[in-house]
Amino acid sequence: VDERAPAGVGTILVTGATGTTGRRVAARLRARGADVRVGGRHPERFDGEPGTAVRFDWHDPGTFAAAVAGVERLYLLRPSGSGADAVDRMHRFLVTARGEGVRRVVLLHSQVTGAAGTPEIPAAVRREMPEWAILCPSWFMQNFTGDHPTATALREHGEIATATGNGRVGFVDADDIAAVATETLLSAEPSNRHHVLTGPETLSYPRIADLVTDITGRRIRYVELTADELTARWVAAGLPEPLARVATELDLAVNRGEYDYTTTAVEDLTGHRPRSFAQFFRSHHRRD
Ligand SMILES: NC(=O)c1ccc[n+]([C@@H]2O[C@H](COP(=O)([O-])OP(=O)(O)OC[C@H]3O[C@@H](n4cnc5c(N)ncnc54)[C@H](OP(=O)(O)O)[C@@H]3O)[C@@H](O)[C@H]2O)c1
Repeated sequence: VDERAPAGVGTILVTGATGTTGRRVAARLRARGADVRVGGRHPERFDGEPGTAVRFDWHDPGTFAAAVAGVERLYLLRPSGSGADAVDRMHRFLVTARGEGVRRVVLLHSQVTGAAGTPEIPAAVRREMPEWAILCPSWFMQNFTGDHPTATALREHGEIATATGNGRVGFVDADDIAAVATETLLSAEPSNRHHVLTGPETLSYPRIADLVTDITGRRIRYVELTADELTARWVAAGLPEPLARVATELDLAVNRGEYDYTTTAVEDLTGHRPRSFAQFFRSHHRRD
């Protein structure tokens, strides 16, 4: 793993730079001496160096060309939504980016397979860009902290409620995702591969409830929901119903054990072991 950005790497635009992974990617790239531009709907909110923030809004294609002008590499979040509209926006943006000289895209995708994962989005990146990496992370450990509905329920009601039963997933720390993104953005040779990113072990949600109970000393209950109950909760949390149904389907796939596996990708690409959930939550709890 290189200590510094290799000479000759051009400007890197980080999209979603106010978000969970983008914030960490931008910080890591800057620490490595890379020339970083950050993009978001409200560039005035960035407190980085002047001139490095640009307006980038998936719902305003007029922002696309200026955001990528002079950019060589991109950390890219996908547009929200799972339909044809998201695929069209992505395609349009990639064509603009390629026309402006972007060569490499590191896409934050997900571990989710099948139609729910919108495979057309990584396919567009592979088709339009000469250099790419598709990051396919498992569920984020950060879903249990911050603003995520799972975290809110944990804090406010002392409960974790899912339809996953004893199904397990390889929860991954967003900091490890950012470390992989940084390496794949800065590497001299492009990866041109999909990388499924997991933590070091798979855990069930009931097991997470026990771990959080041990770490915080507060009794956290695991509540098993039916599919309909879970969909209703997502809708109440503000998700449109079709997306709420997709989210519920994911829980059912977890319940069937479809995501019960880990990979060595984080260690292979960064040289360090991914953080375990207990390590992650302990350090989060100490900070609060
Ligand atoms: N949570 C999980 O367990 C999990 C697992 C696997 C994959 N993922 C994927 O991770 C992605 C989310 O990444 P994240 O957690 O790093 O981000 P996040 O914390 O959810 O933040 C979303 C970011 O997107 C930006 N954004 C929102 N609307 C936008 C728009 N219309 N145009 C341009 N930018 C917009 C926001 O920036 P501004 O507000 O500054 O515009 C913000 O920085 C999703 O695609 C999700 O599918 C999540």
